[in-house]
Amino acid sequence: MKRRLLLLVAALPMAVLGLVLAESQEAQIGGGSGSVQTRIPDVIILGRDSKVGKVTFNHVKHNGGDYGMEAGITIDCISCHHVAQPASEAAKYPPLRTAWPADRTTTLTADLFLKDPKQAGVAACRDCHARAGEVPKLMPEMPVVKQSGSTMLVKMTNQMAFHRACDVCHFEVRSKRQFTNAPSPTTCTSCHKREG
Ligand code: HEC
Ligand code: HEC
Ligand code: HEC
Ligand code: HEC
Repeated sequence: MKRRLLLLVAALPMAVLGLVLAESQEAQIGGGSGSVQTRIPDVIILGRDSKVGKVTFNHVKHNGGDYGMEAGITIDCISCHHVAQPASEAAKYPPLRTAWPADRTTTLTADLFLKDPKQAGVAACRDCHARAGEVPKLMPEMPVVKQSGSTMLVKMTNQMAFHRACDVCHFEVRSKRQFTNAPSPTTCTSCHKREG
């Protein structure tokens, strides 16, 4: 479940989604497409090169069941790794439609990955959602999606893609739970830390 979360984003004000522009020209980091990860990372430091500060993302708590929306409900891999499913499946949740690799027939799960990490086909978000002004590694140009209810095309830079993928769920968690650590989309420092 929870694949639909990506789609609920239209409900959030665009300002919250961080229209602030990043200008740093440093090289990309992120997962990197050059080498294949052979294990599922536990904690990932995102945005190491960003001026607003790096983000410590607890991958295992997010996908291992600790951080589901409800107790006992795990967040599916594809609710974040949306291209790691057949194109025909993705297309059931517009604006999604792209698969990577394009002809894949499998859907990413922990089991699929543990069986054969290479075949599981996990690409780092930043390999497609590049930083503003940079060309993505795996796509000819930056992905765009149509803003729902309008014809405006939104460029899915790393900033836009990560904020959408992360904020929608946190927003919902915060509206449903009285006590929660889920970051507020508008409190930038709940994710971005400048020191160290
Ligand atoms: C809440 C969102 C989320 C969920 C759920 C999630 N991931 Fe991830 N995963 C990420 C992010 C973000 C990265 C870092 C990507 C980057 O560096 O651009 C990542 C990175 C990875 C990587 C390393 C990729 C690389 O080459 O750098 C693997 C492997 C991976 N995830 C597997 C999984 C598997 C298997 C599942 C399901 C059991 C899963 N993930 C669930 C967000 C998620
Ligand atoms: C849920 C955590 C979270 C919150 C809250 C958040 N961000 Fe982000 N932000 C991220 C992640 C993750 C990235 C992508 C980092 C990467 O590409 O590795 C990012 C990327 C960015 C970037 C692009 C950085 C670069 O140089 O590539 C900017 C600018 C940014 N955020 C600004 C903000 C602002 C301003 C706010 C508050 C309105 C905010 N963020 C709130 C997680 C968050
Ligand atoms: C192989 C390239 C590729 C990778 C890898 C990728 N994306 Fe995307 N992403 C796209 C494309 C292309 C779109 C536009 C919709 C489509 O064609 O499916 C998109 C759209 C999105 C959207 C907008 C969806 C909506 O409902 O508006 C979000 C959010 C997003 N990606 C987040 C992520 C995150 C987070 C990761 C990593 C966990 C990731 N993407 C990995 C190519 C990619
Ligand atoms: C489907 C829901 C969901 C998605 C998607 C999601 N989160 Fe979370 N996140 C949670 C929940 C639930 C918590 C913890 C709430 C609690 O402790 O009450 C949390 C907590 C956090 C925290 C604070 C606690 C900690 O682990 O450090 C950070 C930082 C965070 N998330 C970052 C991210 C980033 C970055 C992304 C996008 C790559 C993301 N999250 C995507 C549900 C989600």
